[in-house]
Amino acid sequence: MTVQQKIFWLRLATLIGLCLPALELAWRWYNGDLEPRPVTLATHATGDWAVIFLVLSLAMTPARALFDWMPLIHVRRRIGVAAALYAGAHFLIYVLDQKWNLIVVATEIIRRFYLTIGFVALISLTLLAITSTNGWQRRLKRNWKRLHWLIYPAAFIAIIHFFIQSKVRISEPAFTAGLFTWLMLWRALPARLQKNYAGLALLAVAATFSTVIFEALWYWLVNGRDPMLALEANIDLDLAPRPAHKVLIASLLVILAVAIRRLTLAANKVWTKRYVQSTIPAP
Ligand code: HEM
Repeated sequence: MTVQQKIFWLRLATLIGLCLPALELAWRWYNGDLEPRPVTLATHATGDWAVIFLVLSLAMTPARALFDWMPLIHVRRRIGVAAALYAGAHFLIYVLDQKWNLIVVATEIIRRFYLTIGFVALISLTLLAITSTNGWQRRLKRNWKRLHWLIYPAAFIAIIHFFIQSKVRISEPAFTAGLFTWLMLWRALPARLQKNYAGLALLAVAATFSTVIFEALWYWLVNGRDPMLALEANIDLDLAPRPAHKVLIASLLVILAVAIRRLTLAANKVWTKRYVQSTIPAP
């Protein structure tokens, strides 16, 4: 398969993957599968997918570097735009929940902190999606990169929005925050460490401990619970898997996937060399 064909198939598979959650949600809503609270369930599902695609779009740069697979860069923009579209749908479903009363919507956004930051994240993602085209890239020149740096604070506040609305059940946002930390720390690593196993092991440890600390701090500062209980929960196997365990597993899976990819590439190289030697007669 040529590189162009690989890019084509990857783009197509990504497009299908990005549309599937929306289609499944629409289908379930239409069939009454979301009863008795379809609007609430749809708000949660679209919010979840917006965050998942946001994190996935941030994962494309490290994935391309670690798996040494250029085509991945061709789907990064698409995944980012999908995150903005799901966030837009999430907002519209919220407006529908408020019976399209825009005064109530605006008042709620001003009054409730988690909605205010959700709104800021939404505006940022929309701006980034609109300016993600080649035309805007040419028009904005060097400012394009500066503007698109907004993705990091936007993702950060979207995750805080996720935390706040989760109230006391913060497993999912804590896991997301752990993955986000991994992705941010990877970018902060010196180039030499970004691609080697020592760097990835360091990231696994740092992201796991950060997740333990976020969780304990959240329970302590927001819910007024003893932070030691949250710390101890991480060593109690009856309470597994905790968000930090999931972050550790995800980080170790990255190391395993990188090892498999590198072994496959090395085996391919040896195989191609042998094939060439056996088919081209020595002079
Ligand atoms: C004006 C913008 C926004 C509004 C009005 C809004 C509103 C809401 C509401 C009402 C909930 C459910 C709260 C509850 O049930 O107690 C929610 C949850 C959530 N929102 Fe937003 N949101 C906005 C922006 C965003 C953005 C930009 C993202 C992500 C990129 C996002 C991600 C989420 C997530 C992940 C949840 C939790 C879903 C779950 O618990 O399964 N929201 N939002």
